[in-house]
Amino acid sequence: MGKVAVGVAALAACAVAGVVVGRRVRSRRKWKRVVGVLKELEEACETPVGRLRQVVDAMAVEMHAGLASEGGSKLKMLLTFVDHLPTGSEIGTYYALDFGGTNFRVLRVQLGGRRSLILSQDVEQQPIPQHLMTSTSEDLFDFIASSLKQFVEKEENGSEPSSVRARELGLTFSFPVRQLSIHSGILIKWTKGFSIEDMVGKEVVGLLEAALVRSGLDMRAAVLVNDAVGTLALGHYDDADTVAAVIIGTGTNACYLERADAIIKCQGHLITSGCMAVNMEWGNFWSSHLPRTSYDIDLDLESPNPNDQGFEKMISGIYLGDIVRRVILRMSQESDIFGPVSSRLSIPFILQAPLLAAMHEDDSPELKEVDKILKETLEISEVSLKVRKLVVRICDVVTRRAARLAAAGIAGILKKIGRDGSGGVAGGRSRSDPEMRRTVVAIEGGLYTRYMMFREYLHEALNEILGEDVAQHVILKVTEDGSGIGGALLAAANSSSGVDNVQLL
Ligand code: BGC
Repeated sequence: MGKVAVGVAALAACAVAGVVVGRRVRSRRKWKRVVGVLKELEEACETPVGRLRQVVDAMAVEMHAGLASEGGSKLKMLLTFVDHLPTGSEIGTYYALDFGGTNFRVLRVQLGGRRSLILSQDVEQQPIPQHLMTSTSEDLFDFIASSLKQFVEKEENGSEPSSVRARELGLTFSFPVRQLSIHSGILIKWTKGFSIEDMVGKEVVGLLEAALVRSGLDMRAAVLVNDAVGTLALGHYDDADTVAAVIIGTGTNACYLERADAIIKCQGHLITSGCMAVNMEWGNFWSSHLPRTSYDIDLDLESPNPNDQGFEKMISGIYLGDIVRRVILRMSQESDIFGPVSSRLSIPFILQAPLLAAMHEDDSPELKEVDKILKETLEISEVSLKVRKLVVRICDVVTRRAARLAAAGIAGILKKIGRDGSGGVAGGRSRSDPEMRRTVVAIEGGLYTRYMMFREYLHEALNEILGEDVAQHVILKVTEDGSGIGGALLAAANSSSGVDNVQLL
């Protein structure tokens, strides 16, 4: 009897041990599967410097093609008709309306007439109500015009506007626009989640001015510009060595100063200063050298603009968190390391860039921020430290790729204008050429200004691509509100009062 009992106990112990071992083996297998998913992601996102240089070359080639003819490249290389930038001699009070993301802002800027003398600026910011992002152009512009009117009334505090000069406005509209002149242009398509169908193909300033008339506000739009162009204007106003501007925020884009003779498709237009700012719309850049993953493909297919804005979908703030969400969802479906699959993981764009940055930059030993965001945003709780570390790693891979690609884009522009030390268009320079000119790139957008890891990765990659000798001459300079103030400055530089042209290059 005793022997039987011992035997049963031994069997039971074996069974328990078997269960434990089985569980361990299963959990190890699951972990292995998750690690496999991570490895696959890492490999697909790799951006060694050789690959980045291929992207640089492709960017420069596409720039040439886009400048040669309309539709010559996915890079639209849009004419802006901005052929002179603010010099610092502008005087007067100008308004600006900055529309292009989740918020829109109205500004009133007083210019004092000496370089860098912005006497005062008042800004009011408002979120765009979600329903207006997909409603009608009339609803959208009526909302904007009435907000602008309220702002003007508050600013002018009942005083009579000057009867000599109408109020002038710089309209910054940060979507792809085919400009007809410096103060008019047609919306080509929407990006960044906007989709107001009746507006595509319409002239933007006409729609705003009609709404201004409906609201009874006497104001004229002196310029229609993109945020990258506004940033270039402010950058150049602050530092005359500024040759390009880059936005890396909700969306991404770049613009730079191009010689008139290089803009083949512009022939026939009068360019008084010998060069023009070109709005690249680089968000739509595409090259087979871009490291694309299955997550990018799915994100693109499920977006409102498939096959469009491929570069933007790998780089900008609106998309990065969504790539991370997709990776976590896949891991969660392949194993239970995140517990039961959370329904939150299926909500597009639930993980926004600030959350991604907060998880990535969480330096607490227990990764408390990661834990909090997983719990509060994705409703994933009780995950081990090992799993939280995995989440940080996913953020790192996705962000590093984005930042390095943005750096390659910048180097592509520098190559096109002969400022990458390789000789480029200007010819004849060597990497160690002491004559290499100081080259400033104005930069804006929350991903760059508020996400330090992103910024560090971008700088690191630019140094790798250009080499230290050349990189030391290239300065990335954050401008404060170029999309708003730059619009007002350009309104001043192009107002009816007129200013001197300036040689830009
Ligand atoms: C738009 C650009 C804009 C950029 C940054 C992109 O989605 O197409 O026109 O400059 O976002 O706001």
